[in-house]
Amino acid sequence: MTRITRRDFLRRTGGGLTTLGLVAQAPSALAQPRPLSRRVAANDKIVIALIGCGGMGNVDLGWAMDEPDVEVAALCDVDEHHLNNTLQNVIKKNQQRTAKDGQNRPAPDTYKDFRRVLERKDIDAVLICTPDHWHALPLIYACEAGKDAYCEKPISHDILEAKAMAGAVKHFQRVVQVGTWQRSTREFVSAVAFVRAGKIGRITSVRAWKTDDARLGHHVSVGGPPAYFDYDFWTGPAQMVPYIPEYTHYNWRWFYNYASGETGDWGVHMMDIGLLAMSKDTDLVMPVEICGMGGKLAHPDDDRTTPDTVYGLMRFKDPDFVMIWRTERDHPDLPDHGTQFVGERGDTVTVWRGGWRVRDAEGRELPKEEAPPTNSHMRNWLDCIKTREQPRSNLASMAQTTIVCHLINASYLAGGETVHWDKERMDIVGRVGRETQSYERPYRKPWTLPIYKGD
Ligand SMILES: NC(=O)c1ccc[n+]([C@@H]2O[C@H](COP(=O)([O-])OP(=O)(O)OC[C@H]3O[C@@H](n4cnc5c(N)ncnc54)[C@H](O)[C@@H]3O)[C@@H](O)[C@H]2O)c1
Repeated sequence: MTRITRRDFLRRTGGGLTTLGLVAQAPSALAQPRPLSRRVAANDKIVIALIGCGGMGNVDLGWAMDEPDVEVAALCDVDEHHLNNTLQNVIKKNQQRTAKDGQNRPAPDTYKDFRRVLERKDIDAVLICTPDHWHALPLIYACEAGKDAYCEKPISHDILEAKAMAGAVKHFQRVVQVGTWQRSTREFVSAVAFVRAGKIGRITSVRAWKTDDARLGHHVSVGGPPAYFDYDFWTGPAQMVPYIPEYTHYNWRWFYNYASGETGDWGVHMMDIGLLAMSKDTDLVMPVEICGMGGKLAHPDDDRTTPDTVYGLMRFKDPDFVMIWRTERDHPDLPDHGTQFVGERGDTVTVWRGGWRVRDAEGRELPKEEAPPTNSHMRNWLDCIKTREQPRSNLASMAQTTIVCHLINASYLAGGETVHWDKERMDIVGRVGRETQSYERPYRKPWTLPIYKGD
């Protein structure tokens, strides 16, 4: 395995000499060769572990446990309270499953350190439901350990992480589904198929939006973290800042130190549908020019570091169209989130969670065609673990949507200057955006980001 240093990697990508995926380098503590997990056969149980037992972790785990061929062997969290609550949920749900099928299931083991989970050879796959700054390392280490993964969105904290993750997944040939479950629900599948079939003609523009109503206020540090919460581990590769409980669980998404604001939180869902419909398959069209403007305009005194108002404007070539991402206080006459396609005649296709509609340029309703129902996002992943096919929201595809979110933030952080993107090289062209933390940020020691070649 060829190794390069991170500095070499950055110099090469910065110099624009090479493409993603570069070369395998494995500085992670777990990077020594190790036996891969077993291959899961069609009739086998899939043994999983959950890493990150917070809000979405419990939702994803519930979806997985609805499937009869899933067993939960381990739970992992750096917050003992979250860990214990989830353990109780699993025990209760297992009792319900036993009442149905008569099979007894042992309670899962609990862990604080996800690396110990990945050492277990009986575990086939992991759900990675940690905050965004804690996706890249568990995912890359899971690949090294031969595990498949269901990784929450947006896949990464920044562009460099997204590239390293895509490289690792390809290098180790893992099956990774990302939690953009709209790709598996009927209204979005139908709208995407309708647009792709040219039913409203050539698409000239795409709008994606979400109302941002988050307001954190102002809090101060009043002492250290409680004994049940390992704040140092929770901070991980991010910058260490004084502990303020209100800015940890759930609210981390409003801070660039951990995440990418509403653009990465909801933009990744809504823009993903725009990109998917404008692409032939899951290899997505990518913008060539990206401009992000906005600010903390609604509540300038709020402690969040990500903007509450963002307009992200993107230009695409072949096909030629523009896309706008908007997050602001309100969207009159529209659902509070959605994706809308505008055709050459002024017809529109609008889709949101729970519905979709087609209208002509005068606003009259037009007939639409429902796509056949699909299996669930979780089921799609589990099936792919067995067939080794790529799932609907495969990581390579979702690296592209995630990078679009980071590019908007990179432009915003660069003062609204236009960022240029090269899809083939999978890199920013030129200087603008490259120096922002949406492109890359230093890892806090002892953590380092392994960079894998994609082949
Ligand atoms: N797909 C969706 O619709 C959807 C919806 C909500 C959230 N999400 C995504 O799910 C992820 C989690 O979001 P959330 O709202 O559940 O956050 P959360 O803060 O509620 O939960 C995160 C959990 O991870 C734990 N954690 C942090 N670092 C850890 C580590 N190193 N090892 C183990 N556990 C660790 C935290 O203690 C917490 O329990 C995010 O990436 C978010 O964007 C997706």
